[in-house]
Amino acid sequence: MEMNQDIRFASTLNTSLYKDFEHFENLKERIFARTWHWIADAQQLALENQVIPVQLYPGFLNEPLLLTNDTKGILHCLSNVCTHRGNLLVKQPGVCNSLVCSYHGRKFSLDGKFQFMPEFKKAENFPTEQDNLTELPLKNWNNLLFTALKADIPFEHFFQDMQQRLSWLPIAEFRFEPLYSQDYLVNANWALYCDNYLEGFHIPYVHPSLNQAIDYNTYSTELFPYSSLQLGLGKDGEHLFQIPEGHKDADKKVAAYYFWIFPNMMFNFYPWGCSVNIVKPIKQDLTRVSFRTYIWKPELFDSKAASMLEKVEREDENIVEQVQQGVQSRFYKSGRFSPDREQGVHHFHCLIDKLFNRNDENE
Ligand code: FES
Ligand SMILES: [Fe+2]
Repeated sequence: MEMNQDIRFASTLNTSLYKDFEHFENLKERIFARTWHWIADAQQLALENQVIPVQLYPGFLNEPLLLTNDTKGILHCLSNVCTHRGNLLVKQPGVCNSLVCSYHGRKFSLDGKFQFMPEFKKAENFPTEQDNLTELPLKNWNNLLFTALKADIPFEHFFQDMQQRLSWLPIAEFRFEPLYSQDYLVNANWALYCDNYLEGFHIPYVHPSLNQAIDYNTYSTELFPYSSLQLGLGKDGEHLFQIPEGHKDADKKVAAYYFWIFPNMMFNFYPWGCSVNIVKPIKQDLTRVSFRTYIWKPELFDSKAASMLEKVEREDENIVEQVQQGVQSRFYKSGRFSPDREQGVHHFHCLIDKLFNRNDENE
């Protein structure tokens, strides 16, 4: 894998990315452990002394984590592994005053600090910092909570461009709607799913009905350090954003902001609210995509909008599953990019190359 930074000369990443077990394994530490991941909504942790165990990306990262709302109302993301002999600490969500390990009774406060351990009176140099639960960073962005296992690239590098562009939108007021939220299992590599998301090139071919609503000719892509934006302009008669005067998009008929955050999160903003898609790798050729719907203006979210989202998702799944079979061919190794229509995919491949091959820590 070696990416040319100039899209006019570049080729897509070698297909080994999409099919080799070793590459898939290496992604965990080189990319997924170093980037930021949605873990919960702040509303789920609204009660004082509330605890929620979360396994980050089951079957892939498999990291046992614990979200807590401590006695001062501060939210924490902790390792859910007891510092004695490694038992899983909390198995069920609930409310409690302290965390007590079910193996030998070690006790921690809800901010992860060691409190008590039976039968350790004679232990020397005990307790130390090592006996506290590891605390991970937890960022609250408009009531969505994110963490990173090794946070060596700051959160802002991923989120600030989306934040700036949408600062006029009251995202924190959007309400999660479980009825329209669901997971899809896709028989394809996670990165193929992202590749497909990152270009509107396929819209006229794969999504005929979406193509009627969106003005394909003005569909554009903007690139940021660890994110990108595809701007879907709508046609008259469609629902469009009412953007405040003075904003750079105020004179545009924006029907959708499609923000992608490296490596695997999509934030699709529509005049009715937002659909967050999290692309969770399971195996080289199996991915779970979680769609989470957050409603801002219920009057604009109707069954038509819901069925359109579902239809587009099914069309994307079909094409991506077909491509997974294609990239397994002996004869296909990589292809070229359209400099006009595939900037987002090229940008994604450059980021994978940067973190994967060069393990570049100088941000
Ligand atoms: S493993 Fe938790 S107290 Fe022993
Ligand atoms: Fe699509």
